[in-house]
Amino acid sequence: MHVSYKRCCKWVLVLGLLLGTLFHFWGPSSDLEEDLRPRRGSAIQALLSGKIYHIMSDYSEIPYKVKENVARELAQNTCICLAGEETFHLPFSDLLFHRVWAHNLQHAFLETRPDPDNVKNHRAEEYHHFQKRSYSPVDMLIIAEANNPLQYPTQGLEVQPLKTVIIPGLGLRQEDRGNYMVNLTATLGVFDIAATVDGVSVKGVGEKHISLSSLVQAALNRQLQFVTYTNTVFHPKTADSIQFETEGHQSFFTIKVGHRVVPKLYNSGQSEGYNITSLVTIATKTFLRYDKLKDLIDSIRQFYPTVTIVIADDNEHPQPVTGPHIEQYIMPFGKGWFAGRNLAVSQVSTKYVLWVDDDFIFTANTQLEKMVDILEKTTLDLVS
Ligand SMILES: *[C@@H]1O[C@H](CO)[C@@H](O)[C@H](O)[C@H]1NC(C)=O
Ligand SMILES: *[C@@H]1O[C@H](CO)[C@@H](O)[C@H](O)[C@H]1NC(C)=O
Repeated sequence: MHVSYKRCCKWVLVLGLLLGTLFHFWGPSSDLEEDLRPRRGSAIQALLSGKIYHIMSDYSEIPYKVKENVARELAQNTCICLAGEETFHLPFSDLLFHRVWAHNLQHAFLETRPDPDNVKNHRAEEYHHFQKRSYSPVDMLIIAEANNPLQYPTQGLEVQPLKTVIIPGLGLRQEDRGNYMVNLTATLGVFDIAATVDGVSVKGVGEKHISLSSLVQAALNRQLQFVTYTNTVFHPKTADSIQFETEGHQSFFTIKVGHRVVPKLYNSGQSEGYNITSLVTIATKTFLRYDKLKDLIDSIRQFYPTVTIVIADDNEHPQPVTGPHIEQYIMPFGKGWFAGRNLAVSQVSTKYVLWVDDDFIFTANTQLEKMVDILEKTTLDLVS
């Protein structure tokens, strides 16, 4: 095992968060074939946002009454915690009377830093990077305007498991007739309305099938702006297919069900250019070849004297490998490459990890800055 993997992974320098693809695309010019830059804010996006704004502001003259219980489900991140005031102080009063206390974690965190403004800016920058990296054009809300005559969102609608969202963009554009009616049917959740509009009859509130009708098309459309969907079947990373119909016409759209992505922000050293020491950890696994390992460490130190090196070691008679910024983890004898790699990676606390075999050598051409630059500027996860 230890010998056979060796040949097949020549210079597999893995820098990155998890997985990815290997691209040869470092170069001074910008006419690259693979353009992997994240894309936000294109002209199409601006056009779509403008359209959605108009769709949402239609019928704003028609009055409505808010349904408190549904509206409450929609409010997220809008509450503020305030500490209860201590009106009197008795011994053990905290045990006798429950007092609410609140602590602003953001302030508390920043207060402990020598340079809070710098930390704040830095976190904002990291968050921006994270958003660029995690963004996909499929997340963008698109509404199919009423050509068929149903109007509904075609993509970009997402609900957290067991939570509620307004379904934006529902509408009907039909020729004059006596009665206007639409139905919505879901499989993994139920419908409700966040507000009521006079002159619209709604059947099936709180159920998987809701039916809305009115003699006035504008009133029905106003009511459709307040239709909510609540996911009731816990199944993250799936989607509910919604059937939306009126007499003679049927359409389907999906609501994605999933948890929000929690942003990961890294401390990247706050210096001009890339601070390799705080961005990269070099990880390796060794067996039998301490002489080679020593050559590797010596070569790394010529170019990167302060980068942390993590060594997983499953030798039968381990020898201590010492030096500044070196961490050696002794494993049970012969645990193997995969276990060693997992152990080494588990000890990494920087944004990127560089995986090397113990017989690699750094030269003047081994420029981690170039690899980091690609990873920072694209959505790639791995560079070699
Ligand atoms: C809508 O649903 C109602 C009751 O569930 C049903 O009677 C009606 O036929 C449906 N309308 C359409 C257009 O499917
Ligand atoms: C790079 O980061 C390390 C550790 O975070 C820090 O000690 C060092 O001062 C930084 N170097 C520069 C040039 O900012």
